[in-house]
Amino acid sequence: MRSRLFFLTLLLAGLTAAAAPVHITTPRTSLVLQAEQGAPLRYLYYGARLTDGDAAALEAAGFRGQDALPAYGQGNITLTAIAATHADGDMTLDLALENWSTRTIHADADRMHAAEDAVLTEFILKDRVHPFTVKVCYKAWQDVDMIETWTEITNGDKKPVLLRKFDSACLPIRRGQVWASHLTGTWANEGRLVQEPLQPGVLKIENKDGVRNSHTSHAEIMFSLDGKPSETTGQVIGAALCYSGNYLLETVTNDTDWHRFFAGIHPDDSAWELEKGESFRTPELAFTWSAEGTGGASRNFHRWGRAHKLAHGDKERKILLNSWEGVYFNINEPTMDKMMADIAAMGGELFVMDDGWFGVKYPRNIDNSSLGDWQVDERKLPHGIQWLVDAADSHKIRFGIWIEPEMTNSKSELYEKHPDWVLNAPGRPLSEGRGGTQLVLDLSNPAVQDFAFGIVDELMTKYPGIDYIKWDANMPVQSHGSHYLKDQRKLFIAYHRGFAAVCDRIRAKYPDVTIQACASGGGRANYGILPWFDEFWVSDNTDALQRIYMQWGTSYFFPAIAMASHISAVPNHTNRRVTPLKFRIDVAMSGRLGMELQPKDMTEREIEQCRKAIAEYKEIRPVVQFGDQYRLVSPYDGLGLASLMYVTEKKDEAVFYWWKTEHYYDQHLPRVKMAGLDPNRRYKVTELDRIGEALPFEGQSFSGAFLMENGLEIPTTPNGYAEQVAMQGYSSRVLRLTAE
Ligand code: GLA
Repeated sequence: MRSRLFFLTLLLAGLTAAAAPVHITTPRTSLVLQAEQGAPLRYLYYGARLTDGDAAALEAAGFRGQDALPAYGQGNITLTAIAATHADGDMTLDLALENWSTRTIHADADRMHAAEDAVLTEFILKDRVHPFTVKVCYKAWQDVDMIETWTEITNGDKKPVLLRKFDSACLPIRRGQVWASHLTGTWANEGRLVQEPLQPGVLKIENKDGVRNSHTSHAEIMFSLDGKPSETTGQVIGAALCYSGNYLLETVTNDTDWHRFFAGIHPDDSAWELEKGESFRTPELAFTWSAEGTGGASRNFHRWGRAHKLAHGDKERKILLNSWEGVYFNINEPTMDKMMADIAAMGGELFVMDDGWFGVKYPRNIDNSSLGDWQVDERKLPHGIQWLVDAADSHKIRFGIWIEPEMTNSKSELYEKHPDWVLNAPGRPLSEGRGGTQLVLDLSNPAVQDFAFGIVDELMTKYPGIDYIKWDANMPVQSHGSHYLKDQRKLFIAYHRGFAAVCDRIRAKYPDVTIQACASGGGRANYGILPWFDEFWVSDNTDALQRIYMQWGTSYFFPAIAMASHISAVPNHTNRRVTPLKFRIDVAMSGRLGMELQPKDMTEREIEQCRKAIAEYKEIRPVVQFGDQYRLVSPYDGLGLASLMYVTEKKDEAVFYWWKTEHYYDQHLPRVKMAGLDPNRRYKVTELDRIGEALPFEGQSFSGAFLMENGLEIPTTPNGYAEQVAMQGYSSRVLRLTAE
């Protein structure tokens, strides 16, 4: 659909004397702002797409404008999105609209993102006393229901201004029966869904790790406006702060009719002195609206994510074997070669050599040394990286490699040479992380940025055959101090600007390489990093049962194509749980499928089962990776099972997943109704990863209407191999639906 922006005045650009609603639209949503010259910019409406007439009649309907960017000090004291101290000590801001403009951005297709038009509307607000300008920007995509908003703050004064708060946006949400859905967790238990009603007070979601910003809280939230969240019905507003660093998302409920949602870079421990003429751009807050419940809002995030955020969102991901859980640091040529041969024989397409391949003076045998010394350890790999790239080639697969460019260890040649490159309060003892020696490099320093870029540049220049990079980041900022920065208040923000600058350089030169964001597992699942990264590692915990919960939560905001999901060995290396291979395959197949084990420890039958599953995944890969997701039964509802499905846009193919999450005698699992199908078409059902007798409906056809109104009776007990049957608690089924 082409861009449309309706102006409800007769004027084409914003020189408005009276309150003039500005109507910003996406295919199914409207955002209406009051743009009155000399007054604050006011938010009037966000929701279902309006006609011009209804948008113009909002005030007649009693809707009253809410400050779109409450500024601190003059009028607003308690709830503010932006705060600054001027050179004369004045701590207040009073922002009034000067003018606004709108234009269509004709996106050029780069090699990583789709080209689609967006409409950019910019409002210029000026302080009434100081030469201080804030541009409030709204970028409304015309192919998906997503609006991105951010601000650009400019100091026009001769002397510096200190920014103390710098939210990307404030979104007023009308009170009623509003519930919030958001994600929480920790290492090895990321992306856990929390749903709670908004109560008077503050719902505070924040992260101050400095590096890994999604282990605990996530920078995304959904508001279900019509009571307890439903996957299918009710209006939902979803928002994602697209930022790789520290953030604060606050939903404040006070004595007014509004919840006020503020989102931005965390103001704690950070401030930015803005020099004369300097501009400060805040990260985008992307927001969406759907009347189809949380499921509808998620599908909007997924479509937008694939089209406009994550790198190569329109390209199928390869099926890979990662060496980490298989061999940990025990890298050597014969082992790597054998793993490549094994994954190739199972139908995999890529092998990723994880940690342990580098370090000359200090070999990387455990996690207490060598980060920064990115030279191959020839004791382990005498023929170097090219030999591995060639070996992969001979196995007809591709080769990928693990690096951790933002880090070093005190036991490394890099640290010996550049002790001032690490973040640590000058004059204080080193505060070391992983392995007792890890340190974060100071990416605010351009020399360190060059170094980090150089790691990738050198690998890619020397070995252009490298197809995939796993970019890890395994510790937080533990000591607040940069040897480079004069103003330590800038540290957290400057670090992430440096990180962005490095990523920009890498992508400008290497647009095609696949890059995974890993940060001690799922520490970097956020839209701030995805423009440069193809996917993220959901968690170091690969236990299939816990993954059901983690992947479920993560899918609220992120598409399956971005979620790396690997089959691993049992007992699971994190929680020691033993689950049948079928269960592990059936969970991993619902995301970007990979393996994370030592194939040589598998039995012939297990290898054959994986080979078959990989072949089947290839057939459903476009459905999983590009289809619409429908979450059917939530594991969080405690019904003893979880179920979801993916359906193509054309509704001609679907994949249905059913996983049992609990097991006890006298258990009565519900029959699962499907969703997203065409009621008028008939779908043939075939079981994937089938290891036992055929289900009664194998090869049978049913109408979409029947499947959505009734569903199929899935046996609650597994059949197949003896060990599968013995582990009744972990029954699972994957069904492929093909329209006739
Ligand atoms: C982190 C990652 C793992 C693995 C190790 C290697 O913990 O999350 O997947 O790459 O580092 O040291």
